[in-house]
Amino acid sequence: MSEIFDAVEIIGAKRDKKELSDPQIDWVIDAYTKGQVADEQMSALLMAILLNGMNSREISRWTNAMINSGERMEWSALDRKTVDKHSTGGVGDKITLPLAPLVAACGGAVPQLSGRGLGHTGGTLDKLESIPGWRASLSNSEMLDVISKCGAVICAAGAGLAPADKKLYALRDVTGTVQAIPLIASSIMSKKIAEGTSALVLDVKTGSGAFMSDPKKAGELARVMVDLGKQAGVKMRALVTAMDVPLGLTAGNALEVRESIEVLAGGGPSDVVELTLVLAREMLDAAGIKPLMDPADALANGAAMDSWRQMISAQGGDVDAVLPVAKEKMVISAESDGTLSSMDAMSVGIAAWRLGAGRSKQGEKVSFGAGIEIHAKPGAQLKKGDAIFTLHADEPARFARAQDALANSVSISKDGSIAPRLPLIVERIEG
Ligand code: URA
Repeated sequence: MSEIFDAVEIIGAKRDKKELSDPQIDWVIDAYTKGQVADEQMSALLMAILLNGMNSREISRWTNAMINSGERMEWSALDRKTVDKHSTGGVGDKITLPLAPLVAACGGAVPQLSGRGLGHTGGTLDKLESIPGWRASLSNSEMLDVISKCGAVICAAGAGLAPADKKLYALRDVTGTVQAIPLIASSIMSKKIAEGTSALVLDVKTGSGAFMSDPKKAGELARVMVDLGKQAGVKMRALVTAMDVPLGLTAGNALEVRESIEVLAGGGPSDVVELTLVLAREMLDAAGIKPLMDPADALANGAAMDSWRQMISAQGGDVDAVLPVAKEKMVISAESDGTLSSMDAMSVGIAAWRLGAGRSKQGEKVSFGAGIEIHAKPGAQLKKGDAIFTLHADEPARFARAQDALANSVSISKDGSIAPRLPLIVERIEG
């Protein structure tokens, strides 16, 4: 890094709505990663970016600088094409669990470097850790070993992957600067490009339970990420998908693993199955893989389940072990007869989190058995007293706050009407 800049000048430039130059961006990311730019200076710059935006050249350079802050993985030793999926996160979004082994069964190699949940959305690693013995942390050679044998690996991103993002994400979380499209796009894409996948399908969630509740903004985020991937030579697709209502019938770690196993066994809720199949077909197509079989057949004939069992066992998981169950349960029932008209994803996500399924601080332990089972979705006919939710928690003291979160989460209509819903697939973008 030859040129040296002044952080205050860079902050001032963005504050005054000027474009940052490539060397300025390279310097500020590098200096911040090394601790030479202070958190308070980077906080001010992030807020200026949130307020004044970045053009596509700046976003692309910012993303590259984040990639260059760490290692780049590569999978050339594999005899299959690599393809990954990234979801921006939502309530009951367990799709990665059946999807990775399904795509593996159809001929892809899926290197899924995943994260943990923070706030109301769950994290794939927390879900899988509810399987006794399963290990999220693998060395690079263990990762290669698992993906070579099983066609898929789901594990934690190592400390060497985009370390600039680790610092920046933690800072954004406490400075009100998470919700900026240039910062979200560069954060996600720096990790995915550094992961070295040759094709990537993005599942950008929209609706009340998503980061980007407005479908137009979600589409904009998807397009920015697709462009970043294309510039880096990754074959890209993006789907903007519904997160106004929870996905499937469970939210919570072990509960979601159980539901994913139902999908892998050829059953499971129709929305989870549909989205899993749509994403699997997009992944295979984006990567240019001629599928060994149709994804629906791989769910029906047990091939995807075989890949799941191999992949979980290869990471120390006991595939036949009984999954954790919370100590206490509470049922929430319909207060009147009628049609279930709406169910708010965000309220269900917050309730599951308060029951112990999520964490409020990094490093906190989650309760594997905690969460919510959903017995009725919009359109269901209910009689007074019919169960809508079963809440699961280890400590009964958690129920009251979860009930508060759920107080206005559903509405029941007398005339059979159902509140407008987003279609499952809101938009498709091809890179
Ligand atoms: N996920 C990420 O990795 N980064 C963001 O900024 C938002 C979601």
